[in-house]
Amino acid sequence: MRNETIAIHAGYEPEATTHAVAVPIYQTAAYAFDSADHGAALFNLEAEGFRYSRIANPTSAVLEKRIAQLEGGVGALAVATGQAALHFAFVNVADHGGNIVSVPQLYGTTHTLLSHILPRQGIIGRFAESDRPDAIEKLIDENTRAVFAETIGNPAGNVCDIEALARIAHAHGVPLIVDNTVATPILLKPFDYGADIAVHSLTKFLGGHGTTLGGAIVDSGNFPWAKYADRFPAYNKPDASYHGLVYAERFGRTAYIERARSVYQRTMGSVLSPFNAFLLLQGVETVALRMERHVENARKVAEFLREDSRVAWVNYTGFPDSPYYPLVQKYLDGNASSLFTFGIKGGMEAGKTFYDALKLITRLVNIGDAKSLACHPASTTHRQMSAEQQRLAGVLPETIRLSIGIEHVSDIIEDIDQALEKACRSARLEAAE
Ligand SMILES: Cc1ncc(COP(=O)(O)O)c(C=O)c1O
Repeated sequence: MRNETIAIHAGYEPEATTHAVAVPIYQTAAYAFDSADHGAALFNLEAEGFRYSRIANPTSAVLEKRIAQLEGGVGALAVATGQAALHFAFVNVADHGGNIVSVPQLYGTTHTLLSHILPRQGIIGRFAESDRPDAIEKLIDENTRAVFAETIGNPAGNVCDIEALARIAHAHGVPLIVDNTVATPILLKPFDYGADIAVHSLTKFLGGHGTTLGGAIVDSGNFPWAKYADRFPAYNKPDASYHGLVYAERFGRTAYIERARSVYQRTMGSVLSPFNAFLLLQGVETVALRMERHVENARKVAEFLREDSRVAWVNYTGFPDSPYYPLVQKYLDGNASSLFTFGIKGGMEAGKTFYDALKLITRLVNIGDAKSLACHPASTTHRQMSAEQQRLAGVLPETIRLSIGIEHVSDIIEDIDQALEKACRSARLEAAE
C-alpha cells in the first residue's frame, strides 16, 4: 500500500463485535483474563492480547501499526509526547557511562535532555560541530551507543545526510536514531537510507491540528543487537527485571521496540491516552494531503520573502543556493520543509515588532499545525542555550521561525506583508527621532 492508503487503513479492520468503521476508543485501564493460566501467558509475553493499558491498548495499537507501516518498520510504541519517545529511545540503547553522539541542530528541549538531564543519569550527549558526517565520526568512541540526528532540524531546517550518518554509525557498531517529526514519513522514510530507529512527536504534522500531544518510536528491525553483545548487554544477557528474558534471542528483529515497551513504558509510564490516540488517528488520515499543501504554500511564502527588500535573509532549503538543496533533492524529492526561518532587516527589534504585528499567523511554540505559526526561538524554544549553542542550532537573535499552514496562501502572504510594513515603519520612525 502507498502512504495515502496506509494513513487511512493500516492496522484496523472493522472489529468483530460491533463492526464499527471508525477505530473505537477503548477507554479501559485493564482487560479481563479468561483464567489464571491466560493471565500468566499474557504476563509471560507468550499469548497475544492486552492486560493493562500502561503497557498496551487496542486504540493506541492501531496508531502504532499505522505509524510503523508508514515508516516501513517492524513495530512502534506510542507514548504520551515526543519528548517521552526521545527519552525512551535514548535510554533503550545507553546505560550509565554510555554516550550519544548528536548533530547540534536540535529542537531545544531535546538538546536540554541530552546536555543536562541524561548526563545526571550518566548518559552523555556529545554534540558535533556540525551535521557533517566527519564531524560526527570524530566524537564516536568505544562508549558510544547511538548516533542521533533530526532528519530535518527544528528550527535550522538543515537536512541530514542520513545515508552517510548511517554508514558511519554502522561502521562503529551502533544504531542511527533519527527524529523524523518535521519530515514525516510522507516526505522521507529514513529506514530506506539505513536509519535504525525513528522517533516522532505526533503532536506536529502527523496529528496535524494542534490539539493533541503524542509521541512514537518506530523500530526498523534492522539493527543486529546480537552481533554487538558486549556493547548492548541489555539485549543479550538475561534481564533480571523480566524473569531472565533475553530480548535479542526472544524477539529477534523486534527486540528494540519490545524492550522499550516492557522495560520503559511498563515501569516509567508516559502513556498515550486512548482518546488522544483516537484524535491522532483522525489527523494521520489526512497527513499525505496536508503535507502536499504545507510544502506548496511554504514555497510561495519563501519566494515572497526572498523578493522583499524589507527582509535580510531567508533560510529555505528549497532555494538552489541553499547548501542543503542537493539533500532536499535526494531525500525529500525536492519537497523542502514548510518549517523555515528568516530574518527581517533591523535585527532583533524589527523582528519583535514584526512578530507582534502578525494577525492571522499565530504567535506560539508549536509546529506542524494546519494553521500557520510563528515563533521567536531565541526568546522561547532555544532560550536555555548559550549564544554559541544557539548559533550552532541555527538560531540568531532576529530569527523568526515559520511553520506554514494550509490556509489560502494569499491570506498568509498578506498577513506577513502587513507585519513587515509595520516593522519597517517603526524602524523608520526610530531612525527619524
Ligand atoms: C523535532 C521535535 N522533536 C520532538 C519534539 C517534542 O515533541 P512533544 O512536544 O510532543 O513532546 C518537538 C517539539 O516541538 C520537535 O519539534
